[in-house]
Amino acid sequence: MSESKVVLSCIQPTGNLHLGRYFGALQNWEKLQDKYDCLYGIVNYHAMTMPYDRKKLIPSTWELAFNMAACGLKVDNIFVQSLIPEHAELGWIFNCITGFGELGRMTQFKDKSQQVRESQKEAVISSGLYSYPVLQAADILIYRADYVPVGKDQEQHLELTRNIGQRFNHLVGEEYFTLPEPLFTQVPKVMSTADPTRKMSASLGDKHNIDVFTDPSRIRKQIRSAMTDTGSDEGEMSPGVENLFSLLKASGQIDVYQDLLAAYNSGQRHYGTLKDAVADAIIELTEPIRERKAEIVGDKKKFKEQVRESSVAIRKKAQQTVKEVKEKMGLLNVRN
Ligand code: TRP
Repeated sequence: MSESKVVLSCIQPTGNLHLGRYFGALQNWEKLQDKYDCLYGIVNYHAMTMPYDRKKLIPSTWELAFNMAACGLKVDNIFVQSLIPEHAELGWIFNCITGFGELGRMTQFKDKSQQVRESQKEAVISSGLYSYPVLQAADILIYRADYVPVGKDQEQHLELTRNIGQRFNHLVGEEYFTLPEPLFTQVPKVMSTADPTRKMSASLGDKHNIDVFTDPSRIRKQIRSAMTDTGSDEGEMSPGVENLFSLLKASGQIDVYQDLLAAYNSGQRHYGTLKDAVADAIIELTEPIRERKAEIVGDKKKFKEQVRESSVAIRKKAQQTVKEVKEKMGLLNVRN
């Protein structure tokens, strides 16, 4: 059934896998596998661009691999970036055809360098952080991806990727690279239940995100303590209540969602009932994911071997691209 269009996306091995990330990315990535040739990377070279703990990077890399597979991504589609060093090699070549000023306009660089500055440690803003979008372009173009499912925050990086691809094509006088399109699918907006004015995120702290792999009793507790409003019948729906409704809908309980929404609109605002329904829905949705994870971690050795093998297979495509690019750019290859 595959249309053989290539879909590629990547995720950094930082932070836990919470519902925001699940609904925003992984749930959609899983579905795309039915229609496309999908590649999903764990980008550990990217994780080095911000201050990080060297001892934790390998465990987090594996943990993310377990979690991705638990969410239904096929092992054959998963790779680890550092097992495919050609990403870095192509990234270097792209650095040499990317304008310095072009990178200075990236808003994510502005935000993240500010974060480093504020972290106050002796942390330096690395030039890796600056050229990060170039490595991202290499991640994408190296596999000739047609579509890249990402959030709106990555739009600028995708635009840069297309510019780099186009520049390269112009330089070598042929349509060598496919210019990838971002795939902005409708994703539910998931806010922190502790502060529904902020996006659910790993960096805000534990109470600001619901971990997919946490035990159901904690999920229930987090939902029970979700911020709602004072329960008055006046005015518009509060951000907290809106978030509970979005969680319910995102969790696939459309009938329950519609019933409770109708009840809310007719003035019956029993947040206890709503919260129970949301907790039930999330627990039910995530149960199979937790079960799959348990299976995977039951034989970590086997699973890790599979990820290494899939990375070796995926690497072949990357090697082919880099070999051709080097030829076109006047660089000597090991053979021919
Ligand atoms: N920059 C992306 C992020 O922060 C991660 C990423 C790296 C990526 N390389 C990619 C996403 C290639 C899509 C395609 O979320």
